Amino acid sequence: MIKKILIGNWKMNPVRLSDAIRLGKEIQKVKSAKATVVICAPFAYLSPFKTMIKKNVALGAQNLFPEDSGPYTGEISAKMLADLGVSYVIIGHSERRALGEDDSVINKKLKAALKAKLTPIFCVGEKVRDDAHRYLLFIKSQLQDGLAGIPKASLKNIIIAYEPIWAIGTGAPRSATPEESREMSVFIKKTIADIFGAQSLAGLRIVYGGSANDKDADGFLKHGGVDGLLVGHASLDAKKFTKMIQIANNI
Ligand code: PGA
Repeated sequence: MIKKILIGNWKMNPVRLSDAIRLGKEIQKVKSAKATVVICAPFAYLSPFKTMIKKNVALGAQNLFPEDSGPYTGEISAKMLADLGVSYVIIGHSERRALGEDDSVINKKLKAALKAKLTPIFCVGEKVRDDAHRYLLFIKSQLQDGLAGIPKASLKNIIIAYEPIWAIGTGAPRSATPEESREMSVFIKKTIADIFGAQSLAGLRIVYGGSANDKDADGFLKHGGVDGLLVGHASLDAKKFTKMIQIANNI
């Protein structure tokens, strides 16, 4: 069985390094012998975090730039992240797509992450669910275009995060249900098998994200057809996030 994984996406929070360190210390108090725990912190906190973080928590970034180095003011490469000791990186988050990132840029970023031996957390998700199920075709095209040209042997090193946009954030009307998550997980696996062949499913990890919290984590992890959760606002609350880690540990 694949180890469960809990990924905290802190987004552009907290505003002070001192608060980030406090939160990180609370989270790493939890024993995570069974589940893998990842904190995707803002770029500015990655370096101070690396010296503080213990072995039971891995470090992730929230973005990267696809070139290795050069005249790209304000950007940070996969190589730089790897050199800092970062192991995971979120790619194609809907909040970055909303800023103009398209599938071809996301494809380059995925390739850059893999080249630098980072584990990309590749986000896909629809804005709305229509009765005609066209959202399935939308997810299919995000997968096809995002993963274009990636060798099938690399799929075991990628985590696919299903994050329906309608379920993301504190203002979301509801999170998805474990049934909706499971249905999408099956669809993602079918799409990957169609593109890369059924063997590529061995070791492929899928996580759910979108208002996941300490109340519904058990349901998603047991019945959502996923290997873990990508957690936004609940990961900024040490009590909630550590409870979710404990739930994952007990499965
Ligand atoms: P949320 O965010 O848990 O706050 O909905 C998840 C995400 O956007 O990764």
